[in-house]
Amino acid sequence: MALLVEIKTKEKVQTKIHFPTGFLLGAALSAHQVEGNNINSDWWHEEQLGQVPKSGIATDHYHRYDEDFGIAEQIGLNAMRISIEWARIEPEEGRWDSAAIEHYKKVLKSMKDHGLTRMVTLWHWTLPQWLAAKGGFETNVGVEAFARYSWFVAQNLGKDIDLWITLNEPEIYAGLSHQKGSHPPFKKNLIQTWIVIRNLIAAHKSAYKAIKRTIPKAKIGIAKNSSFYQPYRKNNILDKILSYFADSISNHYVLEKIQKQLDFIGVNYYFHNKVRLSWRRGYEEMNKNFNKGQMKLTDQNKRSDMGWVLYPEGLHRLLKDLKWYKKPIYVTENGIADAVDSRRPKFIRDSLQAVANAIADGADVRGYCYWALTDNYEWTEGYGPRFGLVEIDYATQTRKIRKSADVLKEVQIG
Ligand code: BGC
Repeated sequence: MALLVEIKTKEKVQTKIHFPTGFLLGAALSAHQVEGNNINSDWWHEEQLGQVPKSGIATDHYHRYDEDFGIAEQIGLNAMRISIEWARIEPEEGRWDSAAIEHYKKVLKSMKDHGLTRMVTLWHWTLPQWLAAKGGFETNVGVEAFARYSWFVAQNLGKDIDLWITLNEPEIYAGLSHQKGSHPPFKKNLIQTWIVIRNLIAAHKSAYKAIKRTIPKAKIGIAKNSSFYQPYRKNNILDKILSYFADSISNHYVLEKIQKQLDFIGVNYYFHNKVRLSWRRGYEEMNKNFNKGQMKLTDQNKRSDMGWVLYPEGLHRLLKDLKWYKKPIYVTENGIADAVDSRRPKFIRDSLQAVANAIADGADVRGYCYWALTDNYEWTEGYGPRFGLVEIDYATQTRKIRKSADVLKEVQIG
């Protein structure tokens, strides 16, 4: 009998995923995707014009934040990544809204009361409408405005922010908003895309300076879109070269430019892309487009509801590559849309294991945030995709913890 208990206990111990003391286990959210009624933002503006789905009251997180952070604590998280909404703090150019500041003070206090380390993003894709009307990040106007806004947040909320993230996924923003034209301002201009990326780099640098002026010890990073690239044909030299360049440009160009103004690296990981040279299109990335005839991937278990290929091992490889920068790393987003919650448990377990393996290989990874704590407004996809550890019933705003959240209990810190 004693032996049996011992074996059982051993089995249990073996299923734990171990992280060092101080490791942050969290989940992420972004303001526009959950708060609701973000009426002074460019997205809201376009939503009213019918250009993108309406966000309405979203998950009403603006009023239910305390309940949401309580759930985060209950499911075993010790950190949260949220974003502060620029369009609320500065609804008109140069007019700072004191009610918005008071609101975020309460939000940050609630996080602390629930034992959550506070990771705060200053900009998660939405712009105040007044700034969008002036061209957003297409010119230096956006860069200067962002530095002023960052300084203002540092002055008014800074002492309650543990980890700062200036920008969320700069190149994805530029790509969707200025190249693909699916997000506001719906432009399709490659040169402008490049200019926006350059301006976002400048925006990060000037915000970094502005925050440090107020809080010299602030820890400031970026949430960088990070995809794992592989050659489509393993031994094809051209595919290999392409894969190398895709990785260098997409994963490292921005990081290299800002590495002197970076206290840690935030990694948002969703994509495993196989690349190859195509005579028709020059260069192809295969992930979402697998279905379109180029490659068959029939096993639906290996994809999310968005059609994205699931490949947690890519996170291990990416994190190892980032050792080169010699900076602490946080996984700031990693998640799966899975309405029926059948693939999420394994996905989370494998992703956490990938992080643990990267640490064992010497990567200085200090935390992991699952995207997202709750279901939320998925931009042009509206409320269809379900990323949450917590399910939202949008008719009643009831929260229900999904079974997959149990996986977090398999984590052992310290
Ligand atoms: C974005 C989130 C988004 C998630 C899933 C990330 O790139 O930062 O806002 O919801 O992807 O699509």
